[in-house]
Amino acid sequence: MAESITITDNRTGESFEVPIVHGGVDSSAWKKNLPGVWFTDPAFTTTASCESSITDIKGDEGILRYRGYPIEQLAKDSNYLEVAYLLVNGELPTTEQYDQWAHDVTHHTYTHENFRRRFMDGFHFNAHPMGMFVSSLAAMSTFYPEAKDVEDPENRKLQITRLIAKVPTLAAAGYRFSIGMPYVYPENDLDFATNFMSMMFKVAEDKYECDPAITKALDILFILHADHEQNCSTTTARTVGSAHADPYSSVAAAAAALYGPRHGGANEAVLRMLDDIGSYDRVDEFIEGVKRGDHKLMGFGHRVYKNFDPRATIIKEAADNVFKVTGTNPRLDIALKLEEAALNDDYFKSRKLYPNVDFYSGLIYQSLGFPPEMFTVLFAIPRVAGWLSHWSEMLEQDSRIARPRQLYVGADVRDYVPIANR
Ligand code: ACO
Repeated sequence: MAESITITDNRTGESFEVPIVHGGVDSSAWKKNLPGVWFTDPAFTTTASCESSITDIKGDEGILRYRGYPIEQLAKDSNYLEVAYLLVNGELPTTEQYDQWAHDVTHHTYTHENFRRRFMDGFHFNAHPMGMFVSSLAAMSTFYPEAKDVEDPENRKLQITRLIAKVPTLAAAGYRFSIGMPYVYPENDLDFATNFMSMMFKVAEDKYECDPAITKALDILFILHADHEQNCSTTTARTVGSAHADPYSSVAAAAAALYGPRHGGANEAVLRMLDDIGSYDRVDEFIEGVKRGDHKLMGFGHRVYKNFDPRATIIKEAADNVFKVTGTNPRLDIALKLEEAALNDDYFKSRKLYPNVDFYSGLIYQSLGFPPEMFTVLFAIPRVAGWLSHWSEMLEQDSRIARPRQLYVGADVRDYVPIANR
């Protein structure tokens, strides 16, 4: 059977055939044969914006793979830094490559003192850490003007290392500022997750110490959030990057997209929702409210996963390990009952709504001591590796500037009327 489709223009009766390649049909054939007729796809639900070899999601089967490796295996046996290397470079590192990568990331964690002293200190006392994070990323581009040379692969590599290394420092600085605590400098002998915890929570002790079960759970969360193909923020990174903006600006734009509650902001919204529900006996009433359309069940639903989100399954296990160390989170009972009620209800079943990665991540973050305002920042730290992998892939692909068309539905030409005559 031919792997192609035939399109007939009923205005003229003319047909043309377009091959199906990798599950897609090339829009240039459409453009050539039907000039001036555009696809209407406002939220890109049926549009593949690029070819990519980074992350493979098969939504109906609950499959997520980075560079071909199942997320379950990476979460169990790898670590975030190795996964970041895999995403950026396409292959798992050898021991020598890993050591060099870990060394490079560790030695790029410091920021210019002007950043801490002048830039961070300029924020209002109650600034949201995610707003500070977005701005900090953009500000970084002014410290590294050479990053503008996006066509030089070696330069791109250096900026990628810098960004992956510095984002925990930027994130922690925002938090420390927001609670009025002095900034903590990165420490080179700590691994990626422990160093971040130290910059967040160290007080007066000589050396910050953290239960390995805690840092392991945080590292798993970093792995799970590292990439997710063409979601809203990654598409933003590719779009802004397609204009040849520098990587700091492209990643800042992506982080701004992530900030929204329909995307990375959902983990914070889940916790606030659990707080609003308040008690186990109010779950049924809340579910009824969702069905009436009064509010959404945050942490449920996904554009791509329509059976289950594999990350949610791994997170539930990680949560159990954290709660063994920290004691259970009082909101867990409410979350479990919500999940059970929703999974058995026709409203959710018929719409294929299941818990997504954000349903349980907030409970873990909270048990690790992070306030809800930091949750989206915690999502953004590892996603920087994903954004940069896509940014780099896009630049290697000889891409054109992203520039969609529109269907104009506004007024036809009309004459200007002076304000006194309106
Ligand atoms: N609670 C209640 N109803 C929902 C929910 C929800 N969380 N999500 C979707 N629905 C309903 C919609 O109202 C719609 O119902 P209708 O057909 O009667 O109109 C139907 O399910 C389909 O939903 P859409 O909005 O068309 O799905 P879409 O793919 O556009 O949106 C999204 C996906 C944004 C994730 C949505 O499910 C949502 O807002 N979820 C809550 C926020 C959330 O958890 N976001 C995190 C996503 S994962 C991530 O970014 C890491």
